[in-house]
Amino acid sequence: MNETRPHASEPFLGVESSCDETAAAVLDGQGRVLAEAVWSQTAEHTRFGGVVPEVAARAHLQRLPAMVAGVLAQAGLRVADLSGVAATAGPGLIGGLVVGASFAKGLALGAGLPFIGVNHLEAHALTARLPGLFPEAPAFPYLLLLLSGGHCQCVAVHGLGRYERLGTTLDDAVGEAFDKSAKLLGLPWPGGPHLERLAATGNAKAVPLPRPLLGRPGCDFSFSGLKTAVAQAVARGAAPADVAAAFQASVAAVLADRARRAHAMLPGATALVVAGGVAANAAVRAALAAATPLPLLAPPPALCTDNAVMVAWAGLLRLAGGQRDGMALAPRPRWPMAEMQPPAA
Ligand code: KG4
Ligand code: ZN
Repeated sequence: MNETRPHASEPFLGVESSCDETAAAVLDGQGRVLAEAVWSQTAEHTRFGGVVPEVAARAHLQRLPAMVAGVLAQAGLRVADLSGVAATAGPGLIGGLVVGASFAKGLALGAGLPFIGVNHLEAHALTARLPGLFPEAPAFPYLLLLLSGGHCQCVAVHGLGRYERLGTTLDDAVGEAFDKSAKLLGLPWPGGPHLERLAATGNAKAVPLPRPLLGRPGCDFSFSGLKTAVAQAVARGAAPADVAAAFQASVAAVLADRARRAHAMLPGATALVVAGGVAANAAVRAALAAATPLPLLAPPPALCTDNAVMVAWAGLLRLAGGQRDGMALAPRPRWPMAEMQPPAA
């Protein structure tokens, strides 16, 4: 073995560019992280108050090549040492997806390596099974609550490529609700963490806010009415900290209720796994931990938000399952998990 490349056993590269994080990661053949990098484009988008697709695509294009070179160098590897390359192929913003997938395909083609197009939601769903992340990886089936700025859904994870959507949002994603409410409260974008800090100083009971769909059957979510109620409370002159606390308490209560429903829909679940930026919220985590008897598995924040480790991990599992995607694979802005299949050799 070449001593400068101690981990040369089947290392695998993953690339993420579906939204506003540019990321690359190299895992070894078992899924251990050899090197990774994430660049959050938040600063590029802050002055627009949200992610601008064109700005994001250009930023991915500018950053990705050097970032991939960097993680390979950090792992002491060359492209030719890899066993394959994966990129997020959807769902997401099409410009970024095209940048990441084209770059990964180019690397794969140039070095004669297999290419895998990864579903971003599947990557979030499988993160909990990364080796070493939890003392015991959750066995299938488990429940996944995906709580991000763009996605809000509850999924039964039956196996690799076997997903059943139990519920989704009827309007806004939960992170979007945090961001829009934070904006109404005069907080900077992305508002979730700012709103959480403000809520810590407020009294949730001082402002009555609705708890959309609480107690209803099923596992769907709805947040636009809550956002409207926040706007009305702000207009009435309620104290911002109290509004923030009431908003956060409402979201936590609704999510806990939905988690209980989801458990009733999948009584054999082994765990409740959360992912997405909102999973970083302590009140949300506490409510979810108390909602069901299932262990709540919340990956560390860096693996809850968008990253390339999860993309490489999903790609590695699919490669091991015999999957090879052709160069003609087209990125998909919309790619529901329920349409996924186990890897086909
Ligand atoms: O998963 P993520 O990083 O990106 C995507 O949406 O893909 O999630 C970002 C979302 C934003 O809406 C952000 O405001 C929210 O997660 N968020 C939070 C917290 N940290 C991030 N929401 C509530 N409390 C937090 N501590
Ligand atoms: Zn994501």
